[in-house]
Formats: sequence, structure tokens, C-alpha cells
Amino acid sequence: MVAADAHAASVGRAAAAAAQGAPTDADSTPLAAGATIPSVTDAVLQPASAPSPAGLPADHPLVDGRTSSAPLVLAARRQPVPVTPVWFMRQAGRSLPEYREVRAGIPMLESCFRTDLVVEITLQPVRRHGVDAAIFFSDIVVPLKAVGVDLDIVPGVGPVVAEPFRTAADVDRLRDLEPDDVAPVLAAATALAGELGGTPLIGFAGAPFTLASYLVEGGPSRDHARTKALMYSEPEVWHALLGRLSRIAGQFLRQQVLAGASAVQLFDSWVGALPSRDYREYVLPHSTAALGAVADLGVPRIHFGVGTGELLADMRDAGADVVGVDFRVPLAEAARRVGDGVALQGNLDPAALFSSPEAVSARVGRVLEDAAGLPGHIFNLGHGVLPDTDPDVITRVVEQVHSATRR
Ligand code: CP3
Repeated sequence: MVAADAHAASVGRAAAAAAQGAPTDADSTPLAAGATIPSVTDAVLQPASAPSPAGLPADHPLVDGRTSSAPLVLAARRQPVPVTPVWFMRQAGRSLPEYREVRAGIPMLESCFRTDLVVEITLQPVRRHGVDAAIFFSDIVVPLKAVGVDLDIVPGVGPVVAEPFRTAADVDRLRDLEPDDVAPVLAAATALAGELGGTPLIGFAGAPFTLASYLVEGGPSRDHARTKALMYSEPEVWHALLGRLSRIAGQFLRQQVLAGASAVQLFDSWVGALPSRDYREYVLPHSTAALGAVADLGVPRIHFGVGTGELLADMRDAGADVVGVDFRVPLAEAARRVGDGVALQGNLDPAALFSSPEAVSARVGRVLEDAAGLPGHIFNLGHGVLPDTDPDVITRVVEQVHSATRR
């Protein structure tokens, strides 16, 4: 079901490339910022809708008005908000008993390709916590699986790749993503946009560096040693690999938006392992290309990484409207580093949710104080919800953020 028909895929690729007047294999030349990745099947996905001036279908929630005044969208655009929007990375997942119930006996990756499960799991935290956005239930490795990479998500470990990618020949194993490869996933995004009404759906993708780290290491890594070895020793192979990953990530973001997502987040979870100079040389052009794939659609773009205090301005430069901040840098300091041309998202320490109710409330208050006066703030954690978090604590944080910031 997931594995694409190779012939159909190659025909689709050729047609898409012809439509762009571009070579099929422009790996070492990342797309310029603002470049688009048109798809031959865009029209098939949204048959009844004429594109809006912004390039979105007329019945897209941002165009027909359902989400255009949602607090998350306003904050991302640095416009006045009635209340500070709040959502949580990993809000859909193991902290919720209703999640564990529907996932029982179904492997993680299988659940990501089941439309009914994706819809249900994405909605669960919205119903329970009253958060201001739904994050699409999926995983950063879903588009890699969809283009045929042999990988699995091992419980308690994370993504594990059967044959790691380390040579030029390995790079050739990565083909472009076609919408058909992720049809059940996109069907879930469309259904969710219908179910969610005024609550925006956030689509997402893993950024090229973080995806490369899993592909090169073969699994999670603390030091990213093999990844850095490839980057420093064989920069041509590195750029070819990241060029392909940026196309896959960009296409995945674009298709989620066309299917109904009102914002996107690019997760570069592990790029904090690099100093700024390396980020700019080896990563920035590719993350810029991934975010550039949705630039013409006018959706807010959030760019997040862990331990990226030294990279905040660089990550802004990749084309973000919102920079996600982990808990190590206070928001006011992060704002000084990125300037006032972008909004900020963050940054309560997920571990703080295990403290006493008074302490949690004080920590939430401190984040809001740090954010006071920012041109746009989206409340979130500094990284994902930890699996053992008490869901009631999360609900109380939402209530506190809303009651403290209602204007
Ligand atoms: O609520 C949400 O945020 C939506 C869904 C989501 C998942 N993964 C579901 C998931 C999102 C946005 C992701 C992104 C993701 N996946 C990232 C970037 C965000 C981050 O945390 O920095 C990364 C690095 C991955 C890779 C990955 N997938 C890891 C490290 C793990 C955890 C492995 C484990 O068991 O500890 C996964 C699996 C995963 N992805 C789970 C969920 C809910 C847990 C699997 C399960 O429930 O069995």
C-alpha cells in the first residue's frame, strides 16, 4: 500500500520535472528560497477549488476564513491576538490513555498510514486540552518510508534504518516524494481540516539535517559522529543527500498545506549539534529550500530545534515566520537574537510539568513574563511532552495561559 509503484512514480517525476522545466536530478542545487515544487497531482487533490491569489485552494481554511483569524495564525503573523495561543509538541501521543487505547497492538508506522487513526489521534489532544492548534499525527520518517526507505520506529528507541546512507550510491536510493506515496496521510489532513473548524492544523516535516542524521547513523545518535564525518569529509555527497531530503521534506509540507494544514513546522531537532558556521555552510541552504517549498502558499512557517540557542538567527534566515525556542534560552533573550521580524514559540521545560502545581504555575508565569511585549508569541514546551506527563497538568497549563493572557 505504502510502497509506490516504481513505474508510475518515475512517470510522475518526469512529468513534474517537465512542468517545472527542471532536471529530475538537481540534487546538488538546492531550490532557491521562494522556489516552489509544483505537483502534477495538486489539481487531483483539490479538484473543485480554484487557487486563491496566495496559491491556496479557495476552500482552504486560511482562505475561506475558518482559520485566518485563529490566535495561532495571528500570533505567527505578529498581529494582535485575543489570547496567547498554546499547543504542545508531542501533544498527540503516549501521555494520553485514549491514545494508548487506539494504538494498542498497532505498530507506530502502520498507524501513521491509517487515515482513521491519524484523524482520531490528531483530534484527541484538541478535545481534551482545548489547545489552539492540532499537530498532525505522523512522524518525521513517514515520507522516507513512503519513498521506500527500509526503516522502522522501534518503541523506546526511535527510527532505525536497515541500511544506513553513507555513499554517493546510497544517495541514489532516495527518490522524490509523490503525493500518491502518502495518499492515506493526505486524506487524513483533508478530513482533519473539515473536522477542526476554526482550529488550525499544523503540518510538519523533519528538516534535512535531522533526517540525514537518522539515515547516516542508522538510528538515534548522541554525538552525530558519522553524520559529521560525512559532512566534513565528503561535502559533495553530503550536499547531494541534503538536496534530496530538502525536496522530500518540502514536498511533504506542501502537500499537507494543499490538503488543509494552516501552518507548518519544520523540525530540526538535532541541528543544535552544529556551530553556526557549519550550520550556514552545510544546512541552511537545504532548510531554506524545504521551507521555500511552501513560501508561495502564505502559510505561517515555524522552524524549531533543540539546543539551538546559538543558531536562532540562522534558523530565522532559512525563511521562518516563527522560530521555536527550547527551554535553555529565555524568550526575551531569544527575541534579542532574532530581532522583531519573526514571532517566537516556546518554551516551558517539558520536565517542569512534573513539579508541584504551584511550581508548574510559577514556571508558566515566568514564560509569559519573558514573552510580554514580544510582537508574536505561541506558547509551547521547549521540546515534546514526555510520555509519563500527567495529562491533567497539560490541561491546566492551557487554562492558565488562556486566562492570564485574555485581552
Ligand atoms: O503530537 C505530536 O507532536 C504529533 C506527532 C509527532 C510524532 N513524532 C509522533 C510520534 C511528531 C511531530 C513527531 C516528530 C518527530 N519524530 C521528531 C521531531 C520532534 C522531536 O521530538 O524533536 C523526531 C526526532 C522523531 C523521531 C522519533 N519518532 C522519536 C525520537 C520517537 C520516540 C521513540 C520512543 O519510543 O521513545 C518516535 C516515535 C514517535 N513519534 C512516537 C510518537 C507519538 C512514540 C511512538 C509510540 O507511541 O509508540
